[in-house]
Amino acid sequence: MPSTPQGPDARATMLVPVTSAGIGLAAAKLRAGGLVAFPTETVYGLGADATSEAAVASLYAAKGRPRFNPLIIHVENLQAALQYGVFDATALKLAHAFWPGPLTLVVPVRGNRISLLARAGLDTVALRVPGVDVARALIAGAGVPVAAPSANRSGALSPTSARDVMAELEGRIDMVLDGQPSAIGLESSIVALRGGGAELLRPGAVALEKLRMVVPVSVPAAQVGEVRPSAPGQLKSHYAPRAGLRLHATSLRPGEVGLDFGGVLSGASRDLSPSGDLAEAAAQLFRALRDLDASGAQVIAMAPVPQHGLGFAINDRLARAAAPRDT
Ligand code: TXA
Ligand code: MG
Repeated sequence: MPSTPQGPDARATMLVPVTSAGIGLAAAKLRAGGLVAFPTETVYGLGADATSEAAVASLYAAKGRPRFNPLIIHVENLQAALQYGVFDATALKLAHAFWPGPLTLVVPVRGNRISLLARAGLDTVALRVPGVDVARALIAGAGVPVAAPSANRSGALSPTSARDVMAELEGRIDMVLDGQPSAIGLESSIVALRGGGAELLRPGAVALEKLRMVVPVSVPAAQVGEVRPSAPGQLKSHYAPRAGLRLHATSLRPGEVGLDFGGVLSGASRDLSPSGDLAEAAAQLFRALRDLDASGAQVIAMAPVPQHGLGFAINDRLARAAAPRDT
């Protein structure tokens, strides 16, 4: 459990229901440079005004990010995205096919309104139009693009409910919009369009197979579980529970608790999807790891998950959660 800061960094965190008054209050907080967590279909995001260096700096501080990784900038619609990024024909095809929705596009930046800190000094920008109405209403109300990483302490599991956000960040941020749990439960897929065609930077909520129905997408070699310089935010250990994690487990060892997929791991405490449904497993993943962690388990043994569709992104998150903790 993170410690609550004292002194100048301490903030009283309001948990606000998603009424139009609540969204209005949250939008005003964002405009004033505050930090507001809000629901999206992937995971809960921690928002700050992406045009304000000060607001973005306080966002990094609240998360305790060890370095300034570039952030995803959330906008209301494609028209807004075109103000901040340069979209080629491929980018436009992807935006039309998947926005609003769980796809992030990294494109050359347009203009200088987006904070340099939010871009980590890069000449590209990551843009996404979230699928949840509450999120788009908040961004529209704020009238600014919103930088929003997942609303967790750096390196920890991404939150999929307002309750998870409070457990991570209470006392460090101004407000949490208390909406629905995130339906997908895995971060957006990230595709870069930097002149050399579409390239997958992070597997995520839109399966590669679906992206490839729209445009050709290349996948850098050694994608899963590797640090990629082109996506500087991809720390090796990430999305990590406190407990150790053993992957591809086909049986339980003494002292382990089991997390199953498709009913293959006998004695497991929990199954991400007894019927072997990858979408159901994605939606349960971070919740299940959080719960098993809270149960005091020392090691979580995870059953194999097939490497196709959403399984690609699930295995990416599991590989990071199991990676050596050196940051
Ligand atoms: O589903 C999601 O995408 C969630 C919700 C809240 O929308 N957001 C999220 O943001 O996962 P974050 O900050 O945790 O992920 C940002 C990642 C970075 O780790 C980095 O790899 C990549 O996006 N990124 C951002 N800007 C980039 C850029 N200009 N070039 C390459 N990668 C970039
Ligand atoms: Mg994150």
